[in-house]
Amino acid sequence: MPSLFRTVVLGLGAALVSGAAAQSVQPSNQQLASPEVERKVDALLKQMTLEEKLGQLVQYNDAGHIAATAAQLAINPEAKEQVDAMQLAAEGRLGSMLNTVGAEHTNAFQRAAVEKSRLHIPLLFGADIIHGFRTIYPEPLGLAATFDPELVRELSRMSAEEATTAGIRWFYSPMVDISRDARWGRTAEGAGEDPYLGAAMARAYVQGYQQDDLSKPDSVAACVKHFAAYGAVEAGREYNATDMSDIRLRQVYLPPYQAAVEAGAATIMSAFNALNGVPATANPYLLQQILRKEWGFNGFVVSDYTAVMELQNHGIALTPAEAARKAILAGVDVDMMSHYYDTQLPELVRTGQVPMSVVDEAVRRVLRVKFALGLFEHPYARGTEVTSAVPEHRALVRRAAEESFVLLKNEQDTLPLAKKALKIALIGPLGDDPLQMLGAWSGGPELREVVTVRAALEARAKQYGGSLTVVKGTEIQGTSNAGFAQSVQAARQADVVVMALGESGTMSGEAGSRAFLGLPGNQESLLEAVAQTGRPVVLLVFSGRPLELRQAARHAAAVLEVWFPGTEAGNAIADVLYGDVSPSGKLPMSFPWTVGQEPLYYNQFPTGRPPAPGMDLTQPPGPDSRFVSRYIDAPNAALFPFGFGLSYTRFSYSKVTLSRRAVPLSEATREDAKKLITATVTVTNTGDREATEVVQCYVRNLGASVEQPVRSLEGFRRVTLKPGEAKVVSFDLGFPELAFYNKDSRKVIEPTHYTVWIGGSSLANQEASFDITSDAGAGHTPGR
Ligand code: BGC
Repeated sequence: MPSLFRTVVLGLGAALVSGAAAQSVQPSNQQLASPEVERKVDALLKQMTLEEKLGQLVQYNDAGHIAATAAQLAINPEAKEQVDAMQLAAEGRLGSMLNTVGAEHTNAFQRAAVEKSRLHIPLLFGADIIHGFRTIYPEPLGLAATFDPELVRELSRMSAEEATTAGIRWFYSPMVDISRDARWGRTAEGAGEDPYLGAAMARAYVQGYQQDDLSKPDSVAACVKHFAAYGAVEAGREYNATDMSDIRLRQVYLPPYQAAVEAGAATIMSAFNALNGVPATANPYLLQQILRKEWGFNGFVVSDYTAVMELQNHGIALTPAEAARKAILAGVDVDMMSHYYDTQLPELVRTGQVPMSVVDEAVRRVLRVKFALGLFEHPYARGTEVTSAVPEHRALVRRAAEESFVLLKNEQDTLPLAKKALKIALIGPLGDDPLQMLGAWSGGPELREVVTVRAALEARAKQYGGSLTVVKGTEIQGTSNAGFAQSVQAARQADVVVMALGESGTMSGEAGSRAFLGLPGNQESLLEAVAQTGRPVVLLVFSGRPLELRQAARHAAAVLEVWFPGTEAGNAIADVLYGDVSPSGKLPMSFPWTVGQEPLYYNQFPTGRPPAPGMDLTQPPGPDSRFVSRYIDAPNAALFPFGFGLSYTRFSYSKVTLSRRAVPLSEATREDAKKLITATVTVTNTGDREATEVVQCYVRNLGASVEQPVRSLEGFRRVTLKPGEAKVVSFDLGFPELAFYNKDSRKVIEPTHYTVWIGGSSLANQEASFDITSDAGAGHTPGR
């Protein structure tokens, strides 16, 4: 890590073919391997020496190779040795670089490669730009709360435009790992727990970065990471192992990666974790069978940081040579920072342990991406370098932040605040800290350009009269109560208290696993002390993951989850606090009642002993409520479930209607079955302000050959309604939404019974049902 930026369907009965394996890849993935590009690659490959070929497969940062951690040094004490990246570039022995900062810098390396090396092959510069380059928007988990892929596409476009001015043409983004365990710090970097939402977001990032044409100078190649199932590391502990069934892998974890590949993602990063005993960096099932054979991926795979070297720690390689051999044979084309491909592969190729054809194929994939990016024509940073937040981009990142906020509680309409002379106390360690508004991996913004909550509320106080008192109260991970008295005093004198509490940006992100999920340090005690004044408390929660807010939510009249909002943090928060914008974000991950419930997600598999409807699981079990799937000391349900989020208005949902009651199996399993049935609902704004609702459609399948989740998101739509306005919202459900993986890992539809719910969260309760009927007899549904 150390870096600056941090189906085929066999229906029951008739054999019918359709689904994922048969779906064609999108044009941009095909473009990567267009006849024109292949001709160019062939011509170049013929001229390359082995050393030059291997050069394309290695990646260093500009400091050269430096082993970053004790773990890496333990594997390889030589790892301290440094390479001269500039020299390697000039000799044609370096293919790409990571996290090289600034146009001057990237151009200098590029000149060495393009002007001095024998074959003039340009370098590719990659960076961890995951939520903005200079103008920063919310982290991906916050963006997922917008349920607004179009917004994500626009933001991704914006950051590509900014970063290409510094010569960066490759983002290590999107991270599409499904994460259902809030202990895992990297939840902040992805779209949360749901595969459908995750796939929608994955597509949007890729489309925004790559446009429909990678060769445009302001396009960047996406790097979809971390393949695969990194988000399911055991116990939420970073870099830990992952073990799961193939059904779960394909049904839950793979869809976002596949969506990204289908959207044309040019590159993939293999994950640190082992999956079912085989490290992802040496896993032919993932990298060959699924990625290349089933999905037709034409781009290249890069390892994660020193992951090739780490195969020795995984215990599946005893030597650097074995690690390099296993990785390249499995399908890792580029070695990020291990220094193994360049040192080990020459001998492995000479002795035939790695066929030259395997090296050629890896080089081909790298060159494809370089040609597709047009790097040979325009290798240098484009235009004038963007070195600070772009004024014209501020409106977009402000809107993104506003849309990402999730209102979790709003007792007695505490929010929005009245636009009049209010005495406000802003208390907490996140009230005036620009750095902490940005979160993990936040590019290179100028901190003075970040709008804090304090700055924004001061501006409002000037506008409306009133006053703002600011007290830090404690540190983010503080233990001292020294600031409590001043906080309590400020609260007593205020009409309303805004508390800015939560995590620091670096408590989530890579290597940010937590075993406790409460507000860090003594912030909860501070909140309690302030709440005891009896003043209404509006709690702003900054976090890169779901926190355990059980106690905190009791003390606050209103709770707004704001994630890490980015450059326009304070302005966006003020817009929502004062009701210029009604909150519309919905949780992309379940917020637990207690950390002991983790991993926690709404789309669980059923159990043979579900608690009876209405059973009160907040109470210890009695004789009639013990032998069910439950805890004896906590409820099963999330404190705030997936899809949940309040608004300043209220929405009502009509009954759900379906376009028909039954769909014949032969129709359902057709490859192009995009619209088998349409579910419709009318949503009405019954309150008195305009607001946006995220209408969500969930599906359950009963009677299938393998058990299916109790419900799964299969559609969503953002709908803006004026007071009193009603809109009809429809969801088309087709093969992609209704199919599931059977025990043979095939995507199928079987004659079964489906329930559809539409509503404003995963607790949606307006429902309707239909059947997929076997061709033998309409209405017959096995298993019912
Ligand atoms: C992270 C990746 C990141 C890479 C390069 C690794 O430690 O896992 O997500 O892209 O470093 O900085």
